[in-house]
Amino acid sequence: MKLLITGGAGFIGSAFVRMIVGETDHHAVNLDKLTYAGNLENLTPVENHPRYQFVHGDICDDRLVDALVAEEKPDAIVHFAAESHVDRSILSPEPVIQTNVRGTFVLLDAARRRGIGRFVHVSTDEVYGSLAAPAEATEDFPLNPSSPYSAAKAGSDLLARSYFVTYQMPVVITRASNNYGPYQFPEKLIPLMIANAFEDRPLPVYGDGMQVRDWLFVDDHCRGILAVLEQGRAGEIYNIGGNRSLPNLDVVHRVLELTGKPESLIQYVKDRPGHDRRYALSSEKLMHETGWAPAMAFEAGLARTVEWYKQNPAWVSRVRSGEYRAYYEKNYGRRELTR
Ligand code: NAD
Ligand code: TYD
Repeated sequence: MKLLITGGAGFIGSAFVRMIVGETDHHAVNLDKLTYAGNLENLTPVENHPRYQFVHGDICDDRLVDALVAEEKPDAIVHFAAESHVDRSILSPEPVIQTNVRGTFVLLDAARRRGIGRFVHVSTDEVYGSLAAPAEATEDFPLNPSSPYSAAKAGSDLLARSYFVTYQMPVVITRASNNYGPYQFPEKLIPLMIANAFEDRPLPVYGDGMQVRDWLFVDDHCRGILAVLEQGRAGEIYNIGGNRSLPNLDVVHRVLELTGKPESLIQYVKDRPGHDRRYALSSEKLMHETGWAPAMAFEAGLARTVEWYKQNPAWVSRVRSGEYRAYYEKNYGRRELTR
């Protein structure tokens, strides 16, 4: 297959592109705007490969998207591109709505007009909102998003579904839990804590740190998306979880252990507004229909991730350039300490 992959220079998209080029016979055309989160360094291992091609552009640019789809005639679109961070969506919702909602619409509509054979819309468990224990969201759970990020993702999920219902477009939607692994931008919990710990900087824990997330190693997520691309049924939604729920504080303690740093680095700060207490989801459907299962144990995946950040300080310092410093000051600079 020839795949048009959007957002392939980001954290998960680049892992997916590396996997497609390295482990399958599919071709990858990567459309990415290269926002602060997009980094072509993540694609160095495949940049000269004959089955890989990069196109610099915005998914909201309808003319570019239409021309690209017409010219490349991909067999499928795998749509990762998004503004992906909750804290940024709280500070500045506009780009989130633009890219996540309008960008998804532009892609869906180009795919409809050009008769694309498969559209995988990559979404998140955050669309289900906060769940009281012991509930686990199945794919038919109601949508109850809390942040501009998750609301925009939920909107784009509904739009994607409408293209299946209305136009019989072969759309499939995936909803994954929190990813972690190499090349993740150090704004999300795990890479931020690792990068700060290595520099003996405070580890900012929001609220009481007892919020629960399910952790999925990025390569397991990518294999799940590939399984859905190749075997998923049109019009269906597939959850992809790591089956490993942990409170944030546990994760932070493990990072301290693996980096050999003291607990005194933990700093409790004012909570995120609208903070979801707990995410949990069931991946039974994907496992049952495709045989997929998460392969990486959290301990091993976290150790591998910490090691990658240790070995790649230059990558970390390059992505933490001017824009990152401005964001860090905006998000953390005025966040009061709570203990
Ligand atoms: P990321 O922020 O690391 O990367 C996003 C990529 O999209 C970047 O390369 C960026 O340049 C590109 N992009 C942004 N706006 C664009 C636009 N308008 N046009 C073209 N390219 C644009 O994100 P990620 O963590 O890799 O997430 C990828 C997808 O997976 C997103 O759709 C996200 O909602 C979803 N997801 C993420 C997680 C997670 O834990 N990170 C979990 C579940 C689902
Ligand atoms: P994050 O990685 O932003 O993912 P999401 O909000 O999409 O789940 O955050 C994961 C959890 O970690 C979430 O409960 C918020 C918390 N968190 C902190 O306590 N401190 C931080 O500096 C960050 C970035 C997140």
